[in-house]
Amino acid sequence: MNIYVTRRIPETGLKMLEEKFGKFEMNPDDRVLTREELLEKVKGRDGVIPLLTDTIDDAVFEAAGPQCKIFSNYAVGFNNIDVAAASKRKIMITNTPGVLTDTTADMAIALMFGVARRMAESDVYMRAGKFQGWGPMLLLGKEITGKTLGIVGAGRIGENMATKMAKGFGMKILYTDLNSNQNMEKSLGAKKVDMQTLCKESDFISVHVNYCKETHHLINEQVLNWMHKGTILVNTARGPVVDEMALIKALKTNQIFGAGLDVFEDEPKMKPGLAECLNTVIAPHLGSATIDTRDKMGIIAAQNLIDALSGKTPEFLVNKEAF
Ligand code: GLV
Ligand code: GLV
Repeated sequence: MNIYVTRRIPETGLKMLEEKFGKFEMNPDDRVLTREELLEKVKGRDGVIPLLTDTIDDAVFEAAGPQCKIFSNYAVGFNNIDVAAASKRKIMITNTPGVLTDTTADMAIALMFGVARRMAESDVYMRAGKFQGWGPMLLLGKEITGKTLGIVGAGRIGENMATKMAKGFGMKILYTDLNSNQNMEKSLGAKKVDMQTLCKESDFISVHVNYCKETHHLINEQVLNWMHKGTILVNTARGPVVDEMALIKALKTNQIFGAGLDVFEDEPKMKPGLAECLNTVIAPHLGSATIDTRDKMGIIAAQNLIDALSGKTPEFLVNKEAF
């Protein structure tokens, strides 16, 4: 079998590929392949492990060739892949859900605390030598315990965050979603509301929808205007779910209290003005970035690929309906 991995992933997954297939090729450099390199490198492969930073469209499937069986995405999100085009060509698309649920929810919680307690600003302040002694009015933040958390998208990660915050910090949970989440309603007393109600009544809002046409700029200027001076917005999902220019305006005018961002509209770039907003905590897409989780993602991505090339249905097949 002819396998390609578009960038180095943790050893655990690579070992499995080696044990199963012997030799396989991997991008030796720790960087995203250019479009030309990607089109060239996928040629003749039976299976490919791409990353969320690779745009996998029909031209890539065409370049891979008719023998190609699977693109096993090293991510839970698969908005980087044209799944419909893959289905037409009978190419399996798989992802790595489950293992990064806790990890990504924890990141959202870290950002939420970071903004609420003004950690980025405090850090800059200390390092600049500005601390003159304890002050009753110094860098006052927002209380978390007992406040209201609005979850936008009550899937695996949203539910995980809601559970931790409700059970650990007594937060009241509101959520928006296409479907109602019975488990969250029963065990946490969570309430499904519309976006406007969620914005008006939540102290913290955390975004957990997947990115698709319908969720592009879901958090736009109007939605930001429904929020209030105390609101803290957290996004660990995908950048373009939030209209970043509108968010920058809301941050600069103190329309909202602050934002915790792990993802960006033009990733890896930030929109102009964001870097100057100190009422933010910003991270370079680290939602799943723990040693344990990245290992587990590698194992799942490798297993998905091995299954597909052994004539089995991979456990985390995204385009099931095509097979
Ligand atoms: C990370 O962003 C992922 O989708 O796995
Ligand atoms: C704060 O440091 C306090 O002792 O109240």
